[in-house]
Amino acid sequence: MSKKYDVALVGGRSLVLQHILKLLKKRSSVIERITIYASKDGVESLKSDEYQVKEMKFENIASHDFAFFSGGDLISLKYAARFMELGATVIDNSSIFRLNQESKLIAMHVNDEDRFEKGELYCNPNCVTIMVARVLKPLHDLFKMEKVIVATYQAASGMGKKALDGFLKEQASPDFISGFFLDDCVKKRPLFNNILPLIGTLENDGYTSEEYKIRHELKKIFHDPELESSITAVRVPLTNGHSSVIHVTFEREVDVTKALETLKNSEGIKYQEEYCCPLDATGSEDVFVSRFRRDLDCPYALTFFVSSDNLLVGAASNALYLFDLLVQGENIK
Ligand SMILES: NC(=O)c1ccc[n+]([C@@H]2O[C@H](COP(=O)([O-])OP(=O)(O)OC[C@H]3O[C@@H](n4cnc5c(N)ncnc54)[C@H](OP(=O)(O)O)[C@@H]3O)[C@@H](O)[C@H]2O)c1
Repeated sequence: MSKKYDVALVGGRSLVLQHILKLLKKRSSVIERITIYASKDGVESLKSDEYQVKEMKFENIASHDFAFFSGGDLISLKYAARFMELGATVIDNSSIFRLNQESKLIAMHVNDEDRFEKGELYCNPNCVTIMVARVLKPLHDLFKMEKVIVATYQAASGMGKKALDGFLKEQASPDFISGFFLDDCVKKRPLFNNILPLIGTLENDGYTSEEYKIRHELKKIFHDPELESSITAVRVPLTNGHSSVIHVTFEREVDVTKALETLKNSEGIKYQEEYCCPLDATGSEDVFVSRFRRDLDCPYALTFFVSSDNLLVGAASNALYLFDLLVQGENIK
């Protein structure tokens, strides 16, 4: 009989956590108990017979086998260590530990070979990083990439529940500006009927914190500190589903037929002949690829368009992939 695990979910009604919960229910044969840790408000609205709900306070933290964190950077920073002290393996969706040397940053099907060690902290990469890395990996294996240029089209749900609710309110009352999408900017603009070419905090050099996350995470996942990139992160007026245009230059000349054949045969990649879009990708655990073509002027470069479900591919599926690997005992030292 397979072992059953005691699992904690930290982050109450978080959009990502709702998807993690759905995926965990599909794995009921290995789940003994689920406890959700929420804010005070969250505890009230999450009451359920299926699982225990606790307010997130140090004195309420119990011992668990696994703890999935989806409450944002500050919650992970404050509480993850305590869960680990009490024996939990933490799988964290926040960005706070991703670039720490000792943290494992694992993108599904990309750097699985990185050694796992039980009791450590495992980080999910940024939702765009996961999507981009998953498509780049088979191409990198063929031609070795040197530089990646990415323009993103990121949906409202990528900023969480409050931001998504704000966007829906903007749609319902076009004069309303939720203000959620340009956190630190003086000039607030709506997302509805608009696109906002600034995600995260603007740094002195003109790039944003979101763009830096993707840049540094790609370097870490591909074990290549020299990997060049230029990212432009853009918020688009969609409820769900992130997309990107990717232009990638390789060390070796590309063979488009071979590249496409390899992509089509890669696990978790769905190539669509004409085009793909966020509506195709929403609800799927695959990364969708289309508009695949060679750069007209450079035989070493490819350009293509990708879409994926940011809450699934970009977060929950990756977290559950790590859980499955750990439970199966694969890659554990
Ligand atoms: N959204 C995405 O597409 C996406 C993709 C990849 C990674 N991520 C990352 O995943 C994390 C979760 O993202 P999200 O979009 O799901 O966020 P979210 O919808 O904004 O959810 C955050 C949740 O944290 C809970 N919370 C607030 N204070 C808390 C406390 N003191 N203790 C416990 N929980 C508390 C709140 O739920 P209650 O009030 O119900 O407790 C809130 O719903 C973030 O770090 C985000 O950067 C998000």
